[in-house]
Amino acid sequence: MSTGRILVLGGSGFVGRHVVARLVAEGWSVIVPTRSRERAKHLILLPTVDVLQADIHDPVTLEGLAVGADAMINLVGILNEGRRGDFDRAHIELARKTVAACRAAGVPRLLHMSALNADAQGPSRYLASKGQAEAIIAGSDLEWTIFRPSVVFGPEDSFLNMFARLERFLLVVALACAEARFQPIWIGDVAQAFVRALDDDRTLRQRYALCGPRVYTLRELVAYVGEVTGYRRAIVPLGARLSRLQARILEVLPGKLMTRDNLASMTRDSVCNCEYPAVFGGVPKALEAIAPSYLAHAKRSRYSRLRAQVGR
Ligand SMILES: NC(=O)c1ccc[n+]([C@@H]2O[C@H](COP(=O)([O-])OP(=O)(O)OC[C@H]3O[C@@H](n4cnc5c(N)ncnc54)[C@H](OP(=O)(O)O)[C@@H]3O)[C@@H](O)[C@H]2O)c1
Repeated sequence: MSTGRILVLGGSGFVGRHVVARLVAEGWSVIVPTRSRERAKHLILLPTVDVLQADIHDPVTLEGLAVGADAMINLVGILNEGRRGDFDRAHIELARKTVAACRAAGVPRLLHMSALNADAQGPSRYLASKGQAEAIIAGSDLEWTIFRPSVVFGPEDSFLNMFARLERFLLVVALACAEARFQPIWIGDVAQAFVRALDDDRTLRQRYALCGPRVYTLRELVAYVGEVTGYRRAIVPLGARLSRLQARILEVLPGKLMTRDNLASMTRDSVCNCEYPAVFGGVPKALEAIAPSYLAHAKRSRYSRLRAQVGR
């Protein structure tokens, strides 16, 4: 058990809520700055969590938040740009600011969330900006650890849940990059890796790829979601030109289900090609052991609809 204080940037998001809950369970006092307290309201009920509305891009504010902390975790990340330059601001500039704030406030330890395939020369702005951010963190004199997960699954994920929603409403799924490969990792394993790293000096100045036990193509994942929810749909793989056209259309629609930058990211398989890091203990959980427990609600909704149709 720890009695330390930790600043978690991006603590209100999908990964954040699980990491913060694990930190609280381990006895940490956690500060979560957010752009909107409303968005982080699920954290407010947790004991030893302080949710603050703050502009973490302001260096003075960030340093002020960091004063007195034993460690900082940066989980901030975006998949798409709202306006040009957002990747640079959210990934690269913020990474620079986290290093500066840690140094100025005397915070020795920095855990940084990156992504598998992050690479300054990467094929998408997402991967390239994540790669540049890694270089900033790894070039610092802090006690850093960098995490590079494949796609993360869990109850509030926006990946499997998105396909579950789509398959409820579409009869046919026109799928870009159907043969792209992923090695999904359970959010519980990701949260455990962050919390264990705080307590284990072997993780200092290390980068860890985090993947689950099995590789799937995107088409297999979409088919699997359909099986679990009961909405088995025909999947029509799109070729390169139609994939780009689809992304061009979707990226200007609300919600940006897919962008050309996302397509570019998927030209690299999101798989680990290495063992799960022994330092985080155990074997990562299988998708099949977890996903049905939260995807099954879509199945119940269908059952309810059928009941309604027959007037019951
Ligand atoms: N989910 C995955 O499958 C996956 C896979 C690989 C890597 N990752 C990485 O893991 C991290 C967390 O992902 P997630 O799925 O939890 O994302 P998420 O649910 O979208 O949460 C993103 C978090 O970042 C904060 N944020 C976003 N843009 C920001 C900005 N411009 N300024 C300040 N804060 C901002 C949000 O805070 P507020 O809105 O409260 O301010 C939120 O807490 C990201 O770095 C992501 O790249 C995720």
